[in-house]
Amino acid sequence: MKTKIFDFRNNQNYENLREATEIIKNGGLVAIPTETVYGLGGDGLNGESCRKIFEAKNRPMDNPLILHISDISELKRLTRDVKESDLEILNKLWPGPLTIILKKSKIIPNEVTAGLDTVAIRMPNKEITREFIKLCETPIAAPSANLSTKPSPTSAKSVLEDMDGRIDAVIDGGDCEIGIESTVLDLTEEYPKILRPGYYTKEKLEKFWKIVYIDEGLNNINLTPKSPGQKYKHYAPNAEVQVLIGDDENFRKAVKKILSKNQDKKIGLMIFENDKGKFENENIIYMGNQNDLSYMGKILFDSLRKMDENSVELVVIRGVEEKGYGLSIMNRLKKSASQNVRRV
Ligand code: TXA
Ligand code: MG
Repeated sequence: MKTKIFDFRNNQNYENLREATEIIKNGGLVAIPTETVYGLGGDGLNGESCRKIFEAKNRPMDNPLILHISDISELKRLTRDVKESDLEILNKLWPGPLTIILKKSKIIPNEVTAGLDTVAIRMPNKEITREFIKLCETPIAAPSANLSTKPSPTSAKSVLEDMDGRIDAVIDGGDCEIGIESTVLDLTEEYPKILRPGYYTKEKLEKFWKIVYIDEGLNNINLTPKSPGQKYKHYAPNAEVQVLIGDDENFRKAVKKILSKNQDKKIGLMIFENDKGKFENENIIYMGNQNDLSYMGKILFDSLRKMDENSVELVVIRGVEEKGYGLSIMNRLKKSASQNVRRV
C-alpha cells in the first residue's frame, strides 16, 4: 500500500480533506494531527476498520482505543450516564488534551473498548482535525500513530517512520504543540480519577472538579492499572535508556562516571540548558529549562527517535521530580527506560 501525504501545514486545501474523508468512509486508515501526538484514525463505529488499526500498530487487542469527536453533542449517542455537572466542565476543557472514560452506549463496537463496558472519548484541539472528523460523520478511533512499544509520533515524519506502507494516508498538520498524550480521566465513579497523567495535571483538573484522584495502579507494581495501556512496554527507542534524578553536581558526577565506564559505546544525553558546557559529547539534546517542563514534553518523543537515527546505544536522560507536569513526564520516561530510573 502506498501511503498518501496530505499537506496541511500551510494551506487548508479542503479538496484533500474530502479525499481523506472518503478513505475513512471506505474503511481505510488516515493518521491525524492533534495538539498532543498524531493519532492513527479509522471509523470508530466500524469494527472492521478498528481491527485494521490494531494490525497496523501491532497493538495487543486488549488495549482499547480513544474515540475522537468534533462536538460535545456527540457524547449523547456514544455514552450513558453522563453527569450534567461533568458536561459543564467539559464544555470549558474541550477541545483539549483530556480524554474521559464513561459508560459506553450500544452502538460502540467491541473492538474499540476491548470488551470493556466503558469507552474513552476526546475532542482534540486542532481545527483541521475537528473539521475532518465532522466531514467523516463518525467518531474517529485513534490510538497514537506509532508501532506498539515505540515513542509516540509528534510529526508526520515520525508517523511515516513507523507507518509508511501500512496505512492509507497521513494528514500533515505540522509538529504537535504539546508532545505527550492526553490525560485520561475516569468519570464513571463518584470522584474523577486520573488513569494516565498528561498535560492537564491533577492540580489543573482540581480547579474544576475540586477532588481528583490518581489511579494507584500507576505507580504500585503490585496493583493492576485501570487503564490497560499502562501495563505495556512503551515509548522505547532501540537504544538503552537510563534516567537519573539529582541536583546539578550529583548529576554531573554520575554522568561523568557513566561516560568513562562506557567509552566503547555511543552515548546520547538529554539534559537541560543549565547543564550546558559540563559534558563533552556529540549527541546532546537540550530540553529547555528545568523550571518549565513544557518544552521537554514537546520534544521528548522526537528526541528519543533522533537518538535512534544517530545510532546512539545508550541514552542518559535527566529526570525530574514527580509533581505537577513532572509526574506526566516521568510516567513516560519510566516506560522508555523500562523502569531504569535512579536517584544520584
Ligand atoms: O493524546 C492522546 O490521547 C492520543 C491522541 C492521538 O489523541 N491518543 C492516545 O491513544 O494516546 P492511545 O491508544 O495510545 O492511548 C489510549 C489510552 C490507553 O492507555 C488505553 O488503555 C486507555 O487510553 N483507554 C482507552 N479506553 C479505555 C477505557 N475504556 N478504560 C480505561 N482506559 C482506556
Ligand atoms: Mg499510545
